[in-house]
Amino acid sequence: MDLKKQIETLEKALKEELKSVKNQADLQNVKAKFIGKKAELSSFMKHMKDLPNDEKPLFGQSINKAKGRFNELIEARKEALRQEEINKKLAQETIDVTLDAPDFSVGTRHILNQIIEEIEDLFIGMGYQIKEGPEIESDEMNFEKLNLPKDHPARDMQDSLYISEDTLLRTHTSPVQVRTMLEYGGKRPVKIICPGKVYRRDDDDATHSHQFMQIEGLVVDNDTTMSDLKGTLLEVARKMFGPDREIRLRPSYFPFTEPSVEVDVTCANCDGAGCNICKQSGYIEILGAGMVNNKVLKDSGYDPEVYQGFAFGIGVERMAMLKYGIEDIRHFYTNDLRFNKQFNR
Ligand code: DAH
Repeated sequence: MDLKKQIETLEKALKEELKSVKNQADLQNVKAKFIGKKAELSSFMKHMKDLPNDEKPLFGQSINKAKGRFNELIEARKEALRQEEINKKLAQETIDVTLDAPDFSVGTRHILNQIIEEIEDLFIGMGYQIKEGPEIESDEMNFEKLNLPKDHPARDMQDSLYISEDTLLRTHTSPVQVRTMLEYGGKRPVKIICPGKVYRRDDDDATHSHQFMQIEGLVVDNDTTMSDLKGTLLEVARKMFGPDREIRLRPSYFPFTEPSVEVDVTCANCDGAGCNICKQSGYIEILGAGMVNNKVLKDSGYDPEVYQGFAFGIGVERMAMLKYGIEDIRHFYTNDLRFNKQFNR
């Protein structure tokens, strides 16, 4: 046999086939066909035994060299193929930077959270600490230790959602006052606010929600006076409703404060002259407050002979409704994006 010629013919055929290879799988087949175990080239070895001994090495070498060359051709095609595939992918994934970006809908901070943060900032600036308490609360913390024993008529002011006989969803954030005083052990001053959710057994309507938010405040020290309370609440009113606002305190009743007050702010709409919003009074009620009842101090471990305190409870929704003229409390909880996005500040 003319080995040289045969190899040349094979090499030519290989080159032809490599040209039409389209992917790595094709290439794998070509490789098997030309240099695999069953390839024609490999079968030439069979003829070796018919040759005289001195020709055998050359014959073998020729076949091996051819195998090497074939392999190089295949590897070169493999590399070229890889490059083609990369180029194809790059072309497919080209980004057209001139296209419009997709329209992502970005959320906003909820208005109630914004108001809570504003009030927190104000109080942190005055040296207060932020406290939290559980929403599932004991009757003792929610009522008894706040001078609201069982059967006290003032419990009717807050319709409650009981979980068991002595556990309920807290009706206000005031139990955090008690928890903090107990934690501090009756020995050191208290200066805290506590924002959080509260729950009432109410039917929802424009002004009632079975769940709403309050910010409780408590200061206990040994020279705390009602004028400290008034000055503090004036800061709150001005922060929320503008620097020209004034407040007035009206006598009221809460079991946990004595004396108790309701706090009104001059109407921002008419500047106190009287209008529809303030029902011609010039004032709008914004929160309840008072000097901490001696019994509450004592029951939470503070000696009323040494310590006095003031407390207040802010309704967050009410603040927001007054500030922005929102007429229905349910807007805060029905997640209408058109409502929420108005407060994107
Ligand atoms: N806890 C009261 C309520 O939910 C609000 C309140 C009034 C809190 C007077 C106080 C306070 O701390 O001193 O109706």
